[in-house]
Amino acid sequence: MTSSGLFIVIEGIDGTGKSTQVKRLSDWFTNQGREVVISREPTDGPWGRILRESAATGRLSADDELQHFLHDRRQHVDELIKPAIAAGKVVILDRYYFSSMAYQGVRGLDPSEIRRKNEEFAPVPDLLLIMDLDVEKAMQRIGERGDIANEFEKRENLQHCREVFLSLKDETYARVINSSGSLDEVTDQVRHVVSLALEQTTK
Ligand code: TYD
Repeated sequence: MTSSGLFIVIEGIDGTGKSTQVKRLSDWFTNQGREVVISREPTDGPWGRILRESAATGRLSADDELQHFLHDRRQHVDELIKPAIAAGKVVILDRYYFSSMAYQGVRGLDPSEIRRKNEEFAPVPDLLLIMDLDVEKAMQRIGERGDIANEFEKRENLQHCREVFLSLKDETYARVINSSGSLDEVTDQVRHVVSLALEQTTK
């Protein structure tokens, strides 16, 4: 029997531990015999590369930035996300269009409008994990790992980004993960939440 595809997105401001949880969740599914594809946005494709460079060298205008994310995402959806789900794989993404709502929303664009533009072509995930953490603690973690917050992650904007992410909490597919504990505590929470959500969808 082939499993049906599963599409999981992990979102949150930098410092909430997204990339670690993406890897651990991927291993968890692999150990259950599932084929997993992990990916991230911005991607390593041509549009994504321009966006990553802009985080260091200077941001595009808000409208251009959103257009670049939309181009990058379209390519990601067509070339990787849709084919992998159709092949019955588990697709786990580190950031997706909810990040556009948050980070381009902070720059004055309307989050609902950003969402509408994305949902014209980007499939809604089966499960959205919102990694939630106090902004001060998130900044502290970025500092501890020796990183400097990039241009997208300015302290004054992060509270607003956190709020945009939390505004999604009542969507049927969304779950909030309290990311203030240790990596292992958060991993346990993620597994618990994912197991429950999967039970609900298979009932
Ligand atoms: P990030 O995942 O933090 O990359 P890295 O691991 O290389 O630091 O992504 C880079 C930035 O892109 C991040 O700070 C948030 C921003 N971003 C947006 O502004 N809009 C989007 O739609 C996405 C996907 C990311």
